[in-house]
Amino acid sequence: MKKKLVSAMLCAAMITGTVVVPSVAVKAEEESKGGVIGVAMPTQDLQRWNQDGENMKAELEAKGYEVDLQFAGNDVATQVSQIENMIANGDQLLVIASIEGDSLGTVLAQAKENDIPVIAYDRLIMNTDAVSYYATFDNYLVGKTQGEFLVDALDLENTDGPYNIEFVTGDPGDNNVNFFFGGAMDVLQPYIDEGKLVVPSGQMTKDEVATANWATETAQARFENILSSYYADGTNLDAVLASNDSTALGVENALAANYTGEYPVITGQDCDIANMPNIIDGKQAMSVFKDTRTLASKVVEMVDAIMQGGEAPVNDTESYDNGTGIIPSYLCEPVAVTADNYKELLVDSGYYTEDQLQ
Ligand code: BGC
Repeated sequence: MKKKLVSAMLCAAMITGTVVVPSVAVKAEEESKGGVIGVAMPTQDLQRWNQDGENMKAELEAKGYEVDLQFAGNDVATQVSQIENMIANGDQLLVIASIEGDSLGTVLAQAKENDIPVIAYDRLIMNTDAVSYYATFDNYLVGKTQGEFLVDALDLENTDGPYNIEFVTGDPGDNNVNFFFGGAMDVLQPYIDEGKLVVPSGQMTKDEVATANWATETAQARFENILSSYYADGTNLDAVLASNDSTALGVENALAANYTGEYPVITGQDCDIANMPNIIDGKQAMSVFKDTRTLASKVVEMVDAIMQGGEAPVNDTESYDNGTGIIPSYLCEPVAVTADNYKELLVDSGYYTEDQLQ
């Protein structure tokens, strides 16, 4: 079978609307494999989902597939109807990053009836047996990396503290939150039990520390309350476990306007361009880098394998039970980014240009 290399687009940054999208390296093949792949992404509000969607579209098209890419504005009903349309239009495989893991059972039962394989993208889709595979970054490792970063930054092994810490995680309907928060708490809880870490607000349950839709404004409003209720008397805040960058930004905005104590160590995730100035300035101590090019490429490999009648590559068959059993998964590896290594990890790798980070 003759395959011709049509173009090679090297990791240059491309712009989609106002959002910067680091693109994947794409090799287009002349031969069309045919087939429409439905790609349902949660929202265009956050940088990462634009990157994920656009990168997958470019790579799938380069392999000869047609792509039906939809963003749902973080609205569950919109996502359900987009998936219904994909099924009605005869899409042959669905890649879905859900808004709410528990809300797709009914529509995915239709996918199953129509023998349409489903890959859960980044977020596991819960309580439906229609999910064939899951592709994500190692979410537990994301949380563990954040927790371990705080342990090192506060030198919890060698000092007694006590240090004041607050927690900010994401949308409770996103199954990843259980892994991000769970991974971090597995590391931090022993220090809380020992009394080295103290939580002045007392807010520590998943529901108390949640942020609906992962929205920056929601995290900011909650944190403004925390600062005025527990830190207005000059109490120092030493650390904030923020599960991702959009919520970390809310914390950083609240601190900028309402806090005069020593600046805390703050974690994040995604290396969003909006957070990079704060990371470079040390106002956000770290972010967890999840190279969306890697995940998109892996999912394209999985799609291609399934569409050719084979099995998708997986590297984990233990960790992710969606309520109907273990979903075979491919976990990509996240890495910690700080002011010290961002150039190597983000600029030298072509994810961002130096200019974008000015
Ligand atoms: C993703 C994170 C992202 C968050 C908010 C999570 O499911 O894994 O990368 O920051 O959603 O969109």
